Amino acid sequence: MPRRNPRNTLRSLYRHSFALDPAADAEFYRIVLPLLREPGIQNLDAYIQHSDITLLHHVISVSYLTYRACKRLGLNYEAGARAGILHDFVTYDWHDPDPSHRLHGFRHPYFALANAKAITALSAVEENAIVRHMWPLTPIPPRYKEAWVLTLVDKYCATKETLRKYQKHPEDLVS
Ligand SMILES: [Fe+2]
Ligand SMILES: [Fe+2]
Repeated sequence: MPRRNPRNTLRSLYRHSFALDPAADAEFYRIVLPLLREPGIQNLDAYIQHSDITLLHHVISVSYLTYRACKRLGLNYEAGARAGILHDFVTYDWHDPDPSHRLHGFRHPYFALANAKAITALSAVEENAIVRHMWPLTPIPPRYKEAWVLTLVDKYCATKETLRKYQKHPEDLVS
Protein backbone atom coordinates (compact mmCIF):
# COMPACT_ATOMS: atom_id res chain seq x y z
CA MET A 1 0.00 0.00 0.00
CA PRO A 2 1.49 3.38 -0.94
CA ARG A 3 2.51 5.50 2.03
CA ARG A 4 0.97 8.91 2.37
CA ASN A 5 3.39 11.75 1.77
CA PRO A 6 3.82 13.24 5.28
CA ARG A 7 4.16 16.70 3.74
CA ASN A 8 0.61 16.51 2.38
CA THR A 9 -1.41 15.58 5.45
CA LEU A 10 -3.94 18.12 6.61
CA ARG A 11 -1.95 18.62 9.81
CA SER A 12 1.32 19.24 7.99
CA LEU A 13 -0.37 21.65 5.59
CA TYR A 14 -1.86 23.45 8.59
CA ARG A 15 1.58 23.68 10.18
CA HIS A 16 3.01 24.96 6.93
CA SER A 17 0.46 27.80 6.88
CA PHE A 18 2.51 29.28 9.75
CA ALA A 19 5.74 29.05 7.78
CA LEU A 20 4.80 30.18 4.28
CA ASP A 21 7.68 31.15 2.07
CA PRO A 22 7.39 33.69 -0.76
CA ALA A 23 9.74 31.62 -2.95
CA ALA A 24 8.51 28.09 -2.19
CA ASP A 25 4.86 29.18 -2.12
CA ALA A 26 5.13 31.64 -5.00
CA GLU A 27 1.86 30.65 -6.67
CA PHE A 28 -0.13 31.03 -3.45
CA TYR A 29 1.48 34.43 -2.83
CA ARG A 30 0.73 35.55 -6.39
CA ILE A 31 -2.97 34.81 -5.80
CA VAL A 32 -3.41 36.28 -2.33
CA LEU A 33 -0.81 39.08 -2.10
CA PRO A 34 -3.06 41.78 -3.64
CA LEU A 35 -5.61 41.01 -0.91
CA LEU A 36 -3.04 40.76 1.89
CA ARG A 37 -1.78 44.24 0.95
CA GLU A 38 -5.22 45.75 1.60
CA PRO A 39 -5.24 47.80 4.86
CA GLY A 40 -8.57 46.26 5.88
CA ILE A 41 -7.12 42.75 5.61
CA GLN A 42 -3.92 43.75 7.42
CA ASN A 43 -6.13 45.12 10.20
CA LEU A 44 -7.38 41.56 10.88
CA ASP A 45 -4.09 41.14 12.75
CA ALA A 46 -5.54 43.39 15.48
CA TYR A 47 -8.23 40.86 16.41
CA ILE A 48 -8.07 37.47 18.07
CA GLN A 49 -10.03 34.64 16.42
CA HIS A 50 -9.54 31.69 18.80
CA SER A 51 -7.06 31.23 21.69
CA ASP A 52 -4.08 33.41 20.73
CA ILE A 53 -4.46 33.05 16.95
CA THR A 54 -5.24 36.33 15.21
CA LEU A 55 -8.00 36.68 12.68
CA LEU A 56 -5.37 37.46 10.05
CA HIS A 57 -3.59 34.21 10.73
CA HIS A 58 -6.86 32.31 10.77
CA VAL A 59 -7.80 33.55 7.28
CA ILE A 60 -4.29 32.78 5.97
CA SER A 61 -4.52 29.20 7.28
CA VAL A 62 -8.01 28.74 5.81
CA SER A 63 -6.90 30.25 2.51
CA TYR A 64 -3.78 28.08 2.24
CA LEU A 65 -5.50 24.80 3.10
CA THR A 66 -8.41 25.60 0.78
CA TYR A 67 -5.93 26.43 -1.99
CA ARG A 68 -4.05 23.15 -1.52
CA ALA A 69 -7.20 21.03 -1.25
CA CYS A 70 -8.83 22.65 -4.30
CA LYS A 71 -5.64 22.18 -6.30
CA ARG A 72 -5.50 18.52 -5.34
CA LEU A 73 -9.16 18.03 -6.30
CA GLY A 74 -8.87 19.81 -9.65
CA LEU A 75 -11.06 22.69 -8.48
CA ASN A 76 -10.74 26.45 -8.86
CA TYR A 77 -7.90 26.96 -6.38
CA GLU A 78 -7.56 30.67 -7.08
CA ALA A 79 -11.17 31.25 -6.05
CA GLY A 80 -10.65 29.01 -3.00
CA ALA A 81 -7.53 30.90 -1.89
CA ARG A 82 -9.14 34.33 -2.38
CA ALA A 83 -12.36 33.36 -0.61
CA GLY A 84 -10.27 31.97 2.25
CA ILE A 85 -8.65 35.37 2.84
CA LEU A 86 -12.01 37.14 2.61
CA HIS A 87 -14.40 34.79 4.39
CA ASP A 88 -14.08 36.41 7.84
CA PHE A 89 -13.33 39.98 6.68
CA VAL A 90 -14.96 41.92 9.53
CA THR A 91 -13.93 45.17 11.17
CA TYR A 92 -14.52 44.32 14.82
CA ASP A 93 -13.44 41.89 17.55
CA TRP A 94 -16.24 39.33 17.76
CA HIS A 95 -15.49 38.80 21.48
CA ASP A 96 -16.48 42.43 22.12
CA PRO A 97 -20.16 42.45 23.21
CA ASP A 98 -21.05 45.48 21.09
CA PRO A 99 -24.72 45.35 19.93
CA SER A 100 -23.72 46.43 16.39
CA HIS A 101 -22.44 42.91 15.74
CA ARG A 102 -24.81 40.87 17.86
CA LEU A 103 -25.36 37.32 16.51
CA HIS A 104 -21.88 37.41 14.96
CA GLY A 105 -22.03 33.71 14.02
CA PHE A 106 -25.06 34.23 11.81
CA ARG A 107 -24.32 37.67 10.41
CA HIS A 108 -20.57 37.90 9.84
CA PRO A 109 -20.59 36.11 6.45
CA TYR A 110 -22.72 38.99 5.15
CA PHE A 111 -20.45 41.61 6.75
CA ALA A 112 -17.46 39.84 5.19
CA LEU A 113 -19.14 39.74 1.78
CA ALA A 114 -19.88 43.48 1.85
CA ASN A 115 -16.32 44.30 2.99
CA ALA A 116 -14.84 42.01 0.34
CA LYS A 117 -16.90 43.61 -2.43
CA ALA A 118 -15.54 47.01 -1.36
CA ILE A 119 -11.95 45.95 -2.18
CA THR A 120 -12.25 43.45 -5.06
CA ALA A 121 -14.59 42.04 -7.69
CA LEU A 122 -15.85 38.59 -6.67
CA SER A 123 -16.76 35.60 -8.81
CA ALA A 124 -19.95 33.64 -8.08
CA VAL A 125 -17.86 30.86 -6.50
CA GLU A 126 -16.01 33.29 -4.22
CA GLU A 127 -19.21 35.04 -3.21
CA ASN A 128 -20.94 31.76 -2.37
CA ALA A 129 -17.93 30.45 -0.43
CA ILE A 130 -17.88 33.58 1.74
CA VAL A 131 -21.57 33.84 2.43
CA ARG A 132 -22.22 30.12 3.06
CA HIS A 133 -19.10 29.21 5.09
CA MET A 134 -20.98 29.05 8.42
CA TRP A 135 -23.18 26.15 7.29
CA PRO A 136 -24.79 24.36 9.15
CA LEU A 137 -25.17 27.21 11.66
CA THR A 138 -26.65 29.16 8.77
CA PRO A 139 -29.00 26.66 7.13
CA ILE A 140 -28.43 27.21 3.39
CA PRO A 141 -25.53 24.96 2.32
CA PRO A 142 -22.72 25.98 -0.07
CA ARG A 143 -23.49 25.66 -3.80
CA TYR A 144 -20.02 24.99 -5.24
CA LYS A 145 -17.37 22.36 -4.44
CA GLU A 146 -14.83 25.08 -3.65
CA ALA A 147 -17.28 26.56 -1.14
CA TRP A 148 -17.71 23.12 0.49
CA VAL A 149 -13.93 22.77 0.77
CA LEU A 150 -13.64 26.18 2.42
CA THR A 151 -16.48 25.41 4.84
CA LEU A 152 -14.83 22.18 5.98
CA VAL A 153 -11.32 23.68 6.15
CA ASP A 154 -12.64 26.59 8.21
CA LYS A 155 -14.04 24.18 10.79
CA TYR A 156 -10.79 22.24 10.89
CA CYS A 157 -8.72 25.39 11.47
CA ALA A 158 -11.18 26.74 14.07
CA THR A 159 -10.98 23.42 15.94
CA LYS A 160 -7.16 23.43 15.89
CA GLU A 161 -7.14 27.01 17.15
CA THR A 162 -9.69 26.35 19.90
CA LEU A 163 -7.89 23.22 21.15
CA ARG A 164 -4.61 25.07 21.67
CA LYS A 165 -5.39 25.48 25.35
CA TYR A 166 -5.02 21.70 25.78
CA GLN A 167 -1.61 21.59 24.09
CA LYS A 168 1.27 20.08 26.03
CA HIS A 169 3.62 22.70 24.65
CA PRO A 170 1.73 25.97 24.20
CA GLU A 171 4.96 27.66 23.04
CA ASP A 172 4.60 25.57 19.88
CA LEU A 173 2.51 27.90 17.77
CA VAL A 174 0.66 25.31 15.76
CA SER A 175 0.66 22.12 17.92
FE1 LIG B 1 -16.46 32.78 9.84
FE1 LIG C 1 -13.20 31.39 9.57
